[in-house]
Amino acid sequence: RNPSVRMELGNEYQIKKQTHMKTILITGGAGFIGSHVIRRMVTFHPETRVLNLDQLTYAGNLENLKDIENAPNYQFIRGDICNTAFLERLFQDYEIDGVIHLAAESHVDRSIADPMAFINTNIVGTVNLLNACRGAWKDLSTKLFYHISTDEVYGSLGKDGLFTEETAYDPRSPYSASKASSDHLVRAYYHTYGMPVVISNCSNNYGPNQFPEKLIPLAIHNILNMKPIPIYGKGENIRDWLYVEDHASAIELIFSRGVHGRTYNIGGLNEWTNIDLIRLLCRIMDEKLERVPGTSEKLITFVKDRAGHDLRYAIDSTRIEEELNWKPSLTFEQGLARTVEWYLQNIAWMENVTSGAYQSYYRTQYEER
Ligand code: NAD
Ligand code: TYD
Repeated sequence: RNPSVRMELGNEYQIKKQTHMKTILITGGAGFIGSHVIRRMVTFHPETRVLNLDQLTYAGNLENLKDIENAPNYQFIRGDICNTAFLERLFQDYEIDGVIHLAAESHVDRSIADPMAFINTNIVGTVNLLNACRGAWKDLSTKLFYHISTDEVYGSLGKDGLFTEETAYDPRSPYSASKASSDHLVRAYYHTYGMPVVISNCSNNYGPNQFPEKLIPLAIHNILNMKPIPIYGKGENIRDWLYVEDHASAIELIFSRGVHGRTYNIGGLNEWTNIDLIRLLCRIMDEKLERVPGTSEKLITFVKDRAGHDLRYAIDSTRIEEELNWKPSLTFEQGLARTVEWYLQNIAWMENVTSGAYQSYYRTQYEER
């Protein structure tokens, strides 16, 4: 699909590429989604210099980028988006043309336990980056700041309806409130300072490299180790799941062709209750591990519900489909099978992550600037 999309885009795509895509700064590139975006940009855009700025928090793992770490158009920089002096130096040292901003604290449960880390990175860090761009960018017409956000800013749906780009923001967790706040600030910089921006709000991602605190990799990890799979409440909450590569392809498209000042919703039209999803995953895992059918399902354990647990998210992605010709490439069954396959083939990745070994290795290799 991608090569044909590129052909359809033709000249316009080429022209845009020459302006804000010479040197791009991708933040959070060592994380789950960021690593897929980095690989895609480094591989499909050899003429673009890709800088990966990441602090390597617990969620950042350069193991995710081992296969492209020596690519000539790729460079890793360890640093914190909360550090304004560092950002100022970075924008002086490199002539950055475009930013794809993914660095964030990303887990709702952690935001309930420690909201301040989310306020700092997600809100203050985003404004720091916007200010660094404002300070460094003289000709705004050739630049672009792209903020990666979540559908959780729209709040919680009842049984019916979909989030559109016009849905009023109604965030309910410290995580979603921090992302909503940063979205508002990005838009404020567009209106107030003429900063060229785009924003996308995506549904729940799954796929390789996802940290095993999120539902799907956590369940895979626990099934592998015959540990209980915790299901919050009754497991009736609904999420719309999108394979991470499909999100990365949408990000590439929006960065290349998105209309400035605009928001794009990205989703899979793929709603699952948590319990149905976990039952499907258990069946796939039993099959792949050649276990007696029903073995993994016995691990399902209902636990206390998450505080303020949003009931349902679902996305109307008509705009990106019609304007940018994007569609998810995989069904959920295909994506989930591929994901399970990846985790089974990368048990060492999972072990390094759960033991914390990845952190001491990469952190000592890269000093924070
Ligand atoms: P992640 O937690 O896997 O990765 C976040 C990355 O940001 C890590 O590599 C971490 O080291 C880095 N980081 C954190 N704080 C930093 C700081 N202060 N300075 C520099 N780097 C820092 O997150 P993810 O799931 O890949 O999500 C990436 C982005 O996409 C986030 O902005 C998130 O809100 C958004 N998003 C995620 C999903 C999802 O389902 N995972 C869905 C929609 C939107
Ligand atoms: P999660 O992967 O944390 O993503 P988000 O909260 O951003 O949607 O959770 C997905 C759903 O799974 C959500 O409804 C909470 C639920 N959940 C569990 O039931 N058990 C778990 O152990 C986790 C981590 C999540």
